[in-house]
Amino acid sequence: DWSMANFIELEMKKIREKVGDKQVLCALSGGVDSSVVAVLIHKAIGDQLTCMFVDHNLNRKGEVEQVMKTFTEDFDMKVIKIDARERFMNKLKGVSDPEQKRKIIGNEFIYVFDEESSKLKDMDFLAQGTLYTDIIESGTTTAQTIKSHHNVGGLPEDMKFELIEPLNTLFKDEVRALGLELGLPEEIVWRQPFPGPGLGIRVLGEVTEEKLEIVREADYILREEIKKAGLDRDIWQYFAVLPDIRSVGVMGDARTYDYAVGIRAVTSIDGMTSDWARIPWDVLEKISVRIVNEVKHVNRVLYDITSKPPATIEWE
Ligand code: XMP
Repeated sequence: DWSMANFIELEMKKIREKVGDKQVLCALSGGVDSSVVAVLIHKAIGDQLTCMFVDHNLNRKGEVEQVMKTFTEDFDMKVIKIDARERFMNKLKGVSDPEQKRKIIGNEFIYVFDEESSKLKDMDFLAQGTLYTDIIESGTTTAQTIKSHHNVGGLPEDMKFELIEPLNTLFKDEVRALGLELGLPEEIVWRQPFPGPGLGIRVLGEVTEEKLEIVREADYILREEIKKAGLDRDIWQYFAVLPDIRSVGVMGDARTYDYAVGIRAVTSIDGMTSDWARIPWDVLEKISVRIVNEVKHVNRVLYDITSKPPATIEWE
């Protein structure tokens, strides 16, 4: 009979049999799927697993630290953090087209992963958080056409690794249950979807350090207030975007000419369609006041009240 505890035992046994005394590599993103896979495999084979986390400078505030702390300290796993921030920023210099940015970020991720993993000796297996839905969606539905175009975090075809995909019979809700059973913190298990290209597509137009800093800080405040208001489980995704516009404001008796920050918060079942979240006005007010007070170079906050379709969830 099927239970989560049985599933774990069975999968651990399978993993041990498959891996033997060899080594496994896993690319951690901080997302639910790769986190659950890493912890499950670690439970099965301990230090025969090495995780790699690529810091591309496009993560949300606190995320890199949280991932490193959770896996190295709480779970005592081997995690190599690759500082690729400068590399990504150089590649993105002068690029403002959204699809171009996606391509660059996706490709750079592959180059970095390739380079860094070939420095590690004797890695035979690569663990991936492929879900059942990822497999059944690999038909030719419209959903897949849209999704594959989104999935920039894929890995090279000519990989020297053998794959381990222990989640490939599970749906998302089962993966979350598994994550909880394995002791992963709720912030990871219930993390909202976050696109592969990260903040790279939430800074509209050219990505610069200054703009990343603004969107990161504004996004952090938004996430804090949504959580405080107890809305974090009801809203599918909520985040800040930085459109490439400035407008006039006033502070004290001085005129300002600074950025406007956009807030996007949507309810959805699967991300294919969505509605804008009816966040209470007093919560929106707090978010707005805090952002203009606490984030330098922002003097205006906009709330996106468009559903999908016709708008997309992301602004790029
Ligand atoms: P859109 O913006 O198309 O987003 O309504 C639908 C869902 O997909 C996510 N998204 C991405 N995910 N790489 C990803 O891994 C991408 O390039 C990408 N673009 C959008 C988006 O966050 C939402 O959950």
